[in-house]
Amino acid sequence: MKPTENGITMTPAILVTGGAGYVGSHTVTTLLERQSGQEFEIVVVDNLSNAYRSEGQKKPESLRIIEEITNKTIHFYELDIRDADALSKVFETHNVECVIHFAALKAVGESVEKPLEYYQANIGGTCTLMETMRKYGVFKLIYSSSCTVYGEPERLPLDEGHPTGRGLTSPYGKSKYFCEEIMKDLSISDKKWKIISLRYFNPVGAHRSGRIGEDPAGIPNNLMPFIAQVAVGRLSELKVFGNDYPTPDGTGVRDYIHVEDLAEGHVKAMKLFQQPGFSGFHAINLGTGTGYSVLEMVAAFKAASGKDIPYRIIGRRAGDIATNYSDVALSHKLLGWRAVKTLEDMCADTWRWQSKNPNGFKTS
Ligand SMILES: NC(=O)c1ccc[n+]([C@@H]2O[C@H](COP(=O)([O-])OP(=O)(O)OC[C@H]3O[C@@H](n4cnc5c(N)ncnc54)[C@H](O)[C@@H]3O)[C@@H](O)[C@H]2O)c1
Repeated sequence: MKPTENGITMTPAILVTGGAGYVGSHTVTTLLERQSGQEFEIVVVDNLSNAYRSEGQKKPESLRIIEEITNKTIHFYELDIRDADALSKVFETHNVECVIHFAALKAVGESVEKPLEYYQANIGGTCTLMETMRKYGVFKLIYSSSCTVYGEPERLPLDEGHPTGRGLTSPYGKSKYFCEEIMKDLSISDKKWKIISLRYFNPVGAHRSGRIGEDPAGIPNNLMPFIAQVAVGRLSELKVFGNDYPTPDGTGVRDYIHVEDLAEGHVKAMKLFQQPGFSGFHAINLGTGTGYSVLEMVAAFKAASGKDIPYRIIGRRAGDIATNYSDVALSHKLLGWRAVKTLEDMCADTWRWQSKNPNGFKTS
């Protein structure tokens, strides 16, 4: 049963799993910024395994700051999405209309060392979430997938018809692929499901206020936060994994996308749910369609920050590919969405966040 108050249906809610994390927090911000009145509530569930909460606070820092930026309230529950009972209580408390599912473990290297933990969290968690959705009659799901599902590109740009699941090298990448396969099977078995799997390319940048951003625990796995931490003096130099790839300057080329553009893509994807006859499983790329090399990123960040970025070329990293960038035609067509932020915006916003918050969300 959906919760009601005195027979009146409560405000519809968007349930955001992992909403305290990097992409989730920016998406929550954009959803609230786009809302003029009280059209829907935002309900975040997160186990805080990769989000920081200050001592004595109920909500993680990212959500506390979003409430300040937007002057709106976020409902927050600290829970693990594998805990079906805790998750059920959220569905019983709020009138959940749709779910945006970010919660996952995401460190590629760590996933090779801890495959069971990754499969359990990412696949087990997703199954528990979808079982709970079905139990409460909620069938609209937006899933955070990744361009990782394409493996080694057979052609570029990577369009959604490119094969997936071939030659995947990490349990993380496989978990994203397996989840998509499960979602496809589920939507074949029951036509009520409306599932949009957004295949992100490389999210970077931060909210333009510089108040929220990516705050990786330990040494960053991704290029942009690594560069930013070198620029701010937290790390001494950038390690560049290989300069002998078949790319113009020999370093790896990726399609970087500003996290605010990515967030807007989710808002646009939600509008698809309202289209008459829309159902089934749909995979859609979210990228810019343009690739930049590691050394181009270093140069752009240096220009945006005015800081020197010392770097050292070391050997290739296992599992890395030379080049990837997206075909953006389907996202234009289906979502009416395209990335508008430039490489300069990505670097300037990352630098604003990093320089204002050298220790991330921790104040000291
Ligand atoms: N950032 C990227 O480069 C990237 C690229 C492609 C896809 N993705 C996907 O996007 C999603 C969000 O990524 P992100 O960069 O924001 O990661 P993140 O780690 O910043 O955010 C994930 C959030 O989920 C929470 N979480 C993890 N496991 C949970 C569980 N079992 N129950 C409840 N909460 C849990 C964490 O505490 C964290 O706040 C992930 O699914 C990730 O695989 C990210």
